[in-house]
This record gives sequence, C-alpha cells and structure tokens, in this order.
Amino acid sequence: MCSDRCRRTEFVAPPSPGLRGETPDTGGMEPGMKLDTEKLGNSRIANLIFKLSGMTMESRLRNWLFDPRKTLAGAGLRPGDTVLEVGCGTGFFTLPTARMIGETGHLIAMDPMSGFVDRVKEKLREAGLANVEVIRRDALNTRLDDASVDAALLFGVVPYPTLPLDRLLPEMHRVLRPQGTLAVWLFPVTFGVPSAILRSGLFTDQIKKNGVYRYRRSGVTP
Ligand SMILES: C[S@@+](CC[C@H](N)C(=O)[O-])C[C@H]1O[C@@H](n2cnc3c(N)ncnc32)[C@H](O)[C@@H]1O
Repeated sequence: MCSDRCRRTEFVAPPSPGLRGETPDTGGMEPGMKLDTEKLGNSRIANLIFKLSGMTMESRLRNWLFDPRKTLAGAGLRPGDTVLEVGCGTGFFTLPTARMIGETGHLIAMDPMSGFVDRVKEKLREAGLANVEVIRRDALNTRLDDASVDAALLFGVVPYPTLPLDRLLPEMHRVLRPQGTLAVWLFPVTFGVPSAILRSGLFTDQIKKNGVYRYRRSGVTP
C-alpha cells in the first residue's frame, strides 16, 4: 500500500535553550532547523501534553453528546471501502468506521502521536477488529499509493497548525480514487474550511449531511 515518497512537514524552528549534559527532548524542533511532525509524535513531552487532550477525545460525555455513528453516516461510507482516517487521535471515529466498512473493508488510521497510535491499537485488539492498519505518520506525506483509497476522512482535524490545507488537500486528492470521497467534519466552527476546499478546485459537488461536508474528487491536476 505504501510507496517510498518522502516529504516532511516543514516549519522553521526558533532556537531553543540546551540542557546541561543532556540531549533535550525538542519534540522534533531542532535549533534553526525544521519541524518534523513524525519526530514530534515520538516526543515524550508532546505525548504527555497530548494525553490530556486525548482524555477529552474519548470521554463518555463526548460519546453521549455526539454519537460518532450518526456523524459517520454523513460520510457515505460503504461496506468494502478502503478508507483513510487523518488524525485518528484516540480512535473516537476509528472503531465505528471499521465496523461500518466491515470485514471486507480496509481502514488506514493515521496519526503522528505514538501515544494515540498505541491507544487505538489497544482498543482495536480489545474490540477484535482486524480490518484497521494504524500508522504513525504525518498525513501531509501519507506515502500511500496514488488513487488507492475510496474515502478520506478529515474528522475534527482541520484547521490544525500541522495540517495546512494547501498541503493536505493535494495529498488527499492524490491518494483518492477518481470517484473518491473527501468527508470533513468540523467542530465547533467551520473557520471557512468548506469554501477553502471548493476554492482549491481539487474537490467538487459539496453536500452536507449530519454535520459532515462531503466532496467528490475533481479531475483537475494540482
Ligand atoms: C483534535 S484531534 C482529533 C482526533 C480525532 N479525529 C477525534 O475527533 O477524536 C487532532 C488530531 O490530529 C492529529 N494530527 C496533527 N497533525 C497531524 C498530521 N500532520 N498528520 C496526521 N495527524 C495529525 C493529532 O495528533 C490529533 O490526534
């Protein structure tokens, strides 16, 4: 499924103070160098910080207030689909998606944070779901084959500083099959994302169902 392409999220890092005699946990930001999202995802400090947000992501209150199956029904997934979930976090949408596409389907759940990836793998094991591949990776460079997925889910992940639309949308367009679907769930506000997606020209035919914006991949070359 994966090819050897390799591009990284690149932001210039400010200089950071060193620690005496220790190798600092810079979370992927080296002085004067570029942020490596995948390296950040392995940082102990970053994982500790993200663990707190992870508790909110998988709280019972969230499940009670926002039934993930109801939201996912807006994505138009079908049994047997190959689906890419960008930024799976602790798996709020991962397990219901896996059940929705069934044993003949294949879900690729992607997140750079090692703590989240481990947590989702544990949940899948407990639930006995075997149709999911959890990958610790930057979704700006999925390294998936061209035209290899039926649907890409951006659920609760945009806007996000490490997922700029100008790089994420071309990557989603590349991995989606010609008739593929991009499904976007934005909460609590849209931040102009739906219009930015249409403006990109990479996706078309916007519809909205159960709070999910759904697009068809357009035929244009980015
Ligand atoms: C607000 S959380 C949402 C998690 C999950 N979708 C949910 O709704 O519970 C955003 C997620 O995006 C992930 N993320 C951030 N940058 C990413 C990137 N470049 N590639 C893939 N995932 C990323 C974060 O690690 C985090 O798990």
